[in-house]
Amino acid sequence: MSRIAYVAGQYVPHAQAAVHIEDRGFQFADGVYEVIAVRDGHLIDEEPHFQRLHRSLGELRIAPPLADAALKIVLREIARRNGVDRGSIYLQITRGVAPRDHAFPKAAKPTLVLTARRARPPDPRLAEEGVAVITIPDIRWQRCDIKSVALLPNVLGKQQAREAGAFEAWQVDADGHVTEGTSSNAWIVTRDGAVVTHPANHAILNGVTRLALIDVVKRAGCRLEERPFTLAEAKSAREAFLTSTTSDLLPVVRIDDAPVGNGNPGLLSQKLRAAYLARVGLAHAAAAP
Ligand code: PDD
Repeated sequence: MSRIAYVAGQYVPHAQAAVHIEDRGFQFADGVYEVIAVRDGHLIDEEPHFQRLHRSLGELRIAPPLADAALKIVLREIARRNGVDRGSIYLQITRGVAPRDHAFPKAAKPTLVLTARRARPPDPRLAEEGVAVITIPDIRWQRCDIKSVALLPNVLGKQQAREAGAFEAWQVDADGHVTEGTSSNAWIVTRDGAVVTHPANHAILNGVTRLALIDVVKRAGCRLEERPFTLAEAKSAREAFLTSTTSDLLPVVRIDDAPVGNGNPGLLSQKLRAAYLARVGLAHAAAAP
């Protein structure tokens, strides 16, 4: 099946899909995005993704190019046309095309781009064996809550992780606190069993998986603490894990050169992962007519 993209109102062959060279996304990274998982043909957590999209657009004063109801139809259509039963949809909205000038253009029409990608189930060893993270200084701007396409620090951090043979890089702020990964949220389980993650303020992206996991943690009767934690605390934690749309929940078994706990995926991490996956399954069962 040939891939199809949706660009500025039209379905076009993926290989020919293009935006204008003066699109502000291209020139200024003046845009936002979402990545939505598709499982068994269903969009996972569509509502929180829409809420976050509207928040990001609002913070940047970009008008939504389509009404939600129309956008939901296009999202399903792009998944269908690409035969995506399991995979993800990438959605990007920029401020539009205009002669290059830093200030907002007076009359630009926001550009909407959608692509859909099939994905094989992730390598089960990642969840079974856990993953390693390195740590890097958090050099990003002070509005990481906006899901902006300006991702250079994240790109450099992820590349550094790859080159170090690690799965992710956890970013550490000037106070020594772990904020989040380059494309995932960071969590630890303390020695007395509290599940800790950075509060959803301007320093992190409030992950849709993070929000779902907060619910899972509460339902499991665990103690949840939304507070900054230091790198030292992470290194001496009982367990650690990360969450994102594309990774679900993966146990973290190494931070830099130190094993987390006994170096194996933690029991609570595994339990929460199973509960999260069950919730995703239940979510689409509930959404089915
Ligand atoms: N990244 N933090 C950052 C910086 C992210 O880029 C992401 C997601 C997350 C997790 O958010 P969510 O649970 O909503 O996926 C946290 C996406 C997957 C990406 O850029 O591909």
